[in-house]
Amino acid sequence: MTDTHEAKVALVTGANKGIGFQTARLLGLEGMTVLVGARDPGRGAAAERALRDEGLDARAVRLDVTDGRSVAAVAAWVEKTHGRLDVLVNNAGIAEGWGAFGDTDLAAVRRMLEVNVVAVIGVTDAFLPLLRASAAARVVNVSSEVGSIATMADPDGPFRDLPVTPGYPVSKSAVNMVTALYARALRDTPIKVNAANPGYCATDLNGHGGHRTAEQGARVSLRLATLPEDGPSGVLWGHLAAEPDQECHGVLPW
Ligand SMILES: NC(=O)c1ccc[n+]([C@@H]2O[C@H](COP(=O)([O-])OP(=O)(O)OC[C@H]3O[C@@H](n4cnc5c(N)ncnc54)[C@H](OP(=O)(O)O)[C@@H]3O)[C@@H](O)[C@H]2O)c1
Repeated sequence: MTDTHEAKVALVTGANKGIGFQTARLLGLEGMTVLVGARDPGRGAAAERALRDEGLDARAVRLDVTDGRSVAAVAAWVEKTHGRLDVLVNNAGIAEGWGAFGDTDLAAVRRMLEVNVVAVIGVTDAFLPLLRASAAARVVNVSSEVGSIATMADPDGPFRDLPVTPGYPVSKSAVNMVTALYARALRDTPIKVNAANPGYCATDLNGHGGHRTAEQGARVSLRLATLPEDGPSGVLWGHLAAEPDQECHGVLPW
C-alpha cells in the first residue's frame, strides 16, 4: 500500500540556537521535516544533531539571510528535494547598539534593518513560489511587542519606562508592515502570513535577561505556523507584556 501521508516541510531561519532552535524542535515534534537554517555550518550541524538525537527529522541548511546567493541556493535545494515549502519562519534577528537616546549608533541600525527587515523580504520572495506550491503554507515573521507603535506610544503601556534607542524597535515595526503587506497580497490564496511576538525570552540576544524561556517564545511561532484554515492572516499575535500571566497570548495592536 502506498503511504500518501507526506510530512510537512518547514524552514526556520536562525535555528541553531535560541527561539529559532526551539521553534525547529517544536515543529519537528509536530512531525514536520525541519530545515534548520544556520549561517555557520558547524553550529547548524550541532543543532541538527541535537534535534536528531530527539528523534526528529531535522536537516541543517547553510543559510545567511543577508546573502542573496545563500538564500537562492537553499531555495533551489528545497525545490529539487521537496518541490514545496509548507512553513517558513523568518526568525533570524539581531539586536545591538542600545546606546544613549540621541546618540544612536547608525551603523548598528543599518545592520539591524538589513538582518531583521530586508532579509525577511528577500527570504520570503525567494521561497514564495515554493510556498505557493504548498496546499496551505504558513509564514511567520518573528517580530516583537517593542515594534508595536501603539504600545510604544502609550504613556501607560507596559514599556513606558523601557530605555530603547530607535534601531531595534524600528526594525520590528518594519517587520510588522512587511507582514501586513504580504498578508494583503496573498489574501486570495491559502497562505497565511503573521507576525509573532515571543515575549521577553532568555537568549543570547539579550544576555539571557528575559523572563520567559526560549521554548515559551517558540510556542508562539508554532501556533502561527500551524494555524487552521479559519485562522487569521495579517496580525501581530503572541505574548502580552501587559498581562502578568506568562501564558497570556493574543492579538497585539500594530
Ligand atoms: N529574545 C527575546 O526576548 C526576543 C523578543 C522578541 C523578539 N525576538 C526575536 O526572536 C528572534 C530570535 O531571537 P533570539 O532571542 O532567539 O536570539 P539569538 O539566540 O541571538 O538567535 C538569533 C539567531 O539568528 C541568527 N542570525 C543572526 N544573523 C543571521 C544571519 N545574517 N543569517 C542567518 N541567521 C542569522 C543567529 O545565528 P548565529 O548563531 O550564527 O549568530 C541565531 O541563530 C529574533 O528575530 C529576535 O529579534 C526575541
